[in-house]
Amino acid sequence: MHKFAVIFLAAYFTVSLVASDWHYPKELPNGVLSDDEDWGGICSSGKRQSPVDLAVDASVRGEFNSFIFHNYDAPMKNPNVINNGHSIQISTVPGPISIAGGGLNGNYIFDQMHFHWASEHTINGGRYALELHMVHHDKRYDTIQRAAQEKNGVAVLGILFHVTKDPNPVVEKILENSHRVFESSGTNTTYKDNLLLSEILPKNKETYFRYEGSLTTPGCGEAVVWTVFNQSLPLSVEQLERFKSVHDDSGHELKHNYRHIQPLNSRSLIYVPGHGYTENFGVSTKLISIPLMMVMSLIALMGFSL
Ligand SMILES: *[C@@H]1O[C@H](CO)[C@@H](O)[C@H](O)[C@H]1NC(C)=O
Ligand SMILES: *[C@@H]1O[C@H](CO)[C@@H](O)[C@H](O)[C@H]1NC(C)=O
Ligand SMILES: [Zn+2]
Repeated sequence: MHKFAVIFLAAYFTVSLVASDWHYPKELPNGVLSDDEDWGGICSSGKRQSPVDLAVDASVRGEFNSFIFHNYDAPMKNPNVINNGHSIQISTVPGPISIAGGGLNGNYIFDQMHFHWASEHTINGGRYALELHMVHHDKRYDTIQRAAQEKNGVAVLGILFHVTKDPNPVVEKILENSHRVFESSGTNTTYKDNLLLSEILPKNKETYFRYEGSLTTPGCGEAVVWTVFNQSLPLSVEQLERFKSVHDDSGHELKHNYRHIQPLNSRSLIYVPGHGYTENFGVSTKLISIPLMMVMSLIALMGFSL
């Protein structure tokens, strides 16, 4: 009985260590980061970890059916914002919002989204200002926790942001709805405005990178089908700086919360160039080229007859 209690307690503390007591490398007074993450377990020993550099030169070409975004244009149900000590995360009751297509094997239900500053993935070695992760789990599993134990159990969409002069109105709305939890880790608040995932997707959803990897935070489960869109969204440097005022669980400003690039090893990195793209979930821009082609052939015909 006593022995079991000790084992139980040991297991409990091991799990809770993995779940909360980890941190990103600290920034030294000279601005240099202290060291690499040393998170142990599969984070250190895994061969299929994330993020990776999305190098077009290292990739193979791919072509998949289009994504189907279910209820991405409907307001999220009871969105809740939490400062989990490592990021700002917006969660909802899983169910109505899901994705399929895009070469995914089935339907994946949306659970939460969160931000990393700067970006975790790089494209051809270039880092972006911010990366948004929309996290989904395969609907064949009851929960995200369960799905995170299975290969391809989790599908994450990665959306990159670049700095520009003007603020991004959607990012502004997200910052205003979450600033109340910035100061202390572990606090949460209701997201008061309507939040539509479609508002924070790039217009071009046909050009992206795809590979199989892991969660980028401990326990780093190798369960994720990654999609990182090539087209980035704008935000202002002032908006980016506000993310850096989020406090971690030791009460310090979380200046950055991205994990270092991991080796691709023997995995396939797929680059899907897409053909044209679908705008606003409506008419394909491909259709625009039909009248244009007609006009051009007319001009060509006239040219020949003159
Ligand atoms: C939000 O905070 C309240 C206490 O302020 C707590 O009871 C509740 O469990 C928290 N919700 C989440 C999702 O963490
Ligand atoms: C991918 O993004 C880069 C940088 O924004 C852009 O120059 C390039 O044209 C994009 N590729 C495609 C196929 O859209
Ligand atoms: Zn993430």
